[in-house]
Amino acid sequence: MSGVEQRRSRTTEAQRNEDRERTAARLLRSSAEKFYDPDVDIAWDAPWVEGKAWLPEERISLYGTKLWDQLTPEQRIELGKHELVSLLSFGIWAEAVLSGILLRVVGHGPATSAHSLYALTEIADEARHSTMFARLIEKTGVPAYRQPAVSRLLERVVQLMPIGPATYGGTLLIEEVLDRGQRQAMADPGVQPHVRQLMRIHVLEEARHISYARAEMRRGLEKRNALRRAPHRAALAGFAVVVYPLMITPRVYRSVGISPARGFAAAMRSPQYRINMTFMSEPMLRYFAEVGMYDGAVTKFLWKLTRSVPAELAAK
Ligand SMILES: [Fe+2]
Ligand SMILES: [Fe+2]
Repeated sequence: MSGVEQRRSRTTEAQRNEDRERTAARLLRSSAEKFYDPDVDIAWDAPWVEGKAWLPEERISLYGTKLWDQLTPEQRIELGKHELVSLLSFGIWAEAVLSGILLRVVGHGPATSAHSLYALTEIADEARHSTMFARLIEKTGVPAYRQPAVSRLLERVVQLMPIGPATYGGTLLIEEVLDRGQRQAMADPGVQPHVRQLMRIHVLEEARHISYARAEMRRGLEKRNALRRAPHRAALAGFAVVVYPLMITPRVYRSVGISPARGFAAAMRSPQYRINMTFMSEPMLRYFAEVGMYDGAVTKFLWKLTRSVPAELAAK
């Protein structure tokens, strides 16, 4: 009997509901105590700092490639700016999709449960975040990048999916991957102060979202048998295959005179791609493995395609 099955047999539905309410009540208290108002907590009127980067260098998609070697220091900074704008544009889209899932959680009720009320609180957080992302994009002077057609398709699929481990896993996929990158960037003194502050705010508030989605995914897995868990695992892995490449649009390469196709091919071939993807995904994938969300041949095959699986998990 697997660890997940043993836990499931011990835990009744009533206990799970109690546990869910406890988690939500704790997160509601934390939300009331610690939150930011990006309108005042970022010094929007202060100018950019000349010569500072927009992202840590090694996280820029062309880092380590021949094309990177040919870029001037100014072009590298410029590409970093466009990649940041691409990430923030993706972030706004992703937060809208995630908020759609949370609205459904509220709709399913019970309306006054801590679980529903926390979902509403999280929607409010995401609304502030997306406003903050948009404001930072505007300040860079680079137009926001529009999401490609495949994103529309993905939105439809998510709307049709039942709320469960796959939807919470999809939430984590975006929140944890961005969180990991942001924690590094906010600690980097070489990065623009506005960007670091934005990331600090986002990391603090997203920590609650990650706790909520992680706990809910674990509970969702515990109450399903092996047969019912399998489609959730595979759907999440498939989602990762499609979503990862959406974060940085190949259109960013035009900013430094490189065609999108050439830049994309170089970034994909670069050994740095795996290093970055693994760095961003590591804590999340370890959690997935711990709760039984990284399991089964199809799931593992799909995750392998993302090139984000840490070596010790890939060897399992
Ligand atoms: Fe957010
Ligand atoms: Fe979030």
